[in-house]
Amino acid sequence: MKGLVLCAGRGTRLRPLTYTIAKQLIPVANRPVIHYNLNFLKNAGIRELAVVVNPDNHHVFKDFLKDGSELNMKIDYVIQQEPRGIADAVYKAREFLKEDPFLLILGDNLIFDDITPSVEKFKNSRCEAMVLLAPVEDPRAYGVAVIENDHIKRVVEKPKEPPSNLAIVGIYMFRSRIFEAIENIKPSQRGELEITDAIEYLIEKGYDVKARTVRGWWKDTGKPEDLLEANRQILDDMKLGDIKGHVDSSSKIQGRVSIGENSQVIESIIRGPVIIGSNCTVKRSYVGPYTSIGDDVELEQSEIENSILMSKSKVSKVRARIDSSVLGQSSEIHQNGVLPRVMKVVIGDLSIIEL
Ligand code: G1P
Repeated sequence: MKGLVLCAGRGTRLRPLTYTIAKQLIPVANRPVIHYNLNFLKNAGIRELAVVVNPDNHHVFKDFLKDGSELNMKIDYVIQQEPRGIADAVYKAREFLKEDPFLLILGDNLIFDDITPSVEKFKNSRCEAMVLLAPVEDPRAYGVAVIENDHIKRVVEKPKEPPSNLAIVGIYMFRSRIFEAIENIKPSQRGELEITDAIEYLIEKGYDVKARTVRGWWKDTGKPEDLLEANRQILDDMKLGDIKGHVDSSSKIQGRVSIGENSQVIESIIRGPVIIGSNCTVKRSYVGPYTSIGDDVELEQSEIENSILMSKSKVSKVRARIDSSVLGQSSEIHQNGVLPRVMKVVIGDLSIIEL
């Protein structure tokens, strides 16, 4: 069984972060989202995969993942020239996939569940597709499925009136019949070839499409608040802390805290779950639960909680506690002590500052 990971999306809902970093490479608990997905595929026994990229982020992924050998996988790349939808991305990968069954995963989704039994079931069955579903409160932003026992009877993309609460989570298994389905569908209202429509084609033609419900935890990391929630979940699951850096005697470490090599904690309180990368300095600061701090970060006389600070960011002397925030790489927040009521900012397009 092969794997197909889609990373061609432009990540518009995560701008401005995605102007400089592909959304699948954004770190959650200090690891890029795509690493979790590759691990997920590996755990499901998949070693050979293709990553679908766009012409702009192609080199970024190639530089980052290379040929996959570091991960003990074999990675190919497929370029989707235009953002024409999931089904179009799958069709573009048909030379790589050939006649093999494959597992498709959307690269910005995070899932923590062992799907090996589902993969085995799919391999041993004759069904043309298996779609993973999860009940959600408001399914209108998703593909929605109607099931009977473990068979899917109908799927519809982003319905205004959802026929069930079962959302398509973005993990699918297919056989090569899906190419025939894709050849027979038309672009949706948003101008994309929807994989949901291709699945509906299979159902209408009488092929068996099976449903599996995700038992573990799943998140589509499309928006900043989703990243923070994923970060909380992963830090919550973090077992014990691991302190490699130096913590001085006036600092307090409470709960599960990991601190990377060459990092220094000086006169500070760190209350876990927290992960801090390498070469960081945390001085006279408070780092509260559910915070992930990347490498080479400097934090001075500030308080931060429930946030993601990417590598090389700097925060100093900020009087208000920074909460539920995502700071991109090399971003800086300083409070100017001289003019307390004045704000001076240099922010990129589409940045959000809530005061
Ligand atoms: C896509 C699929 C949708 C699925 C969702 C899961 O939506 O079209 O069926 O439920 O991923 O994240 P999109 O992210 O393109 O809005």
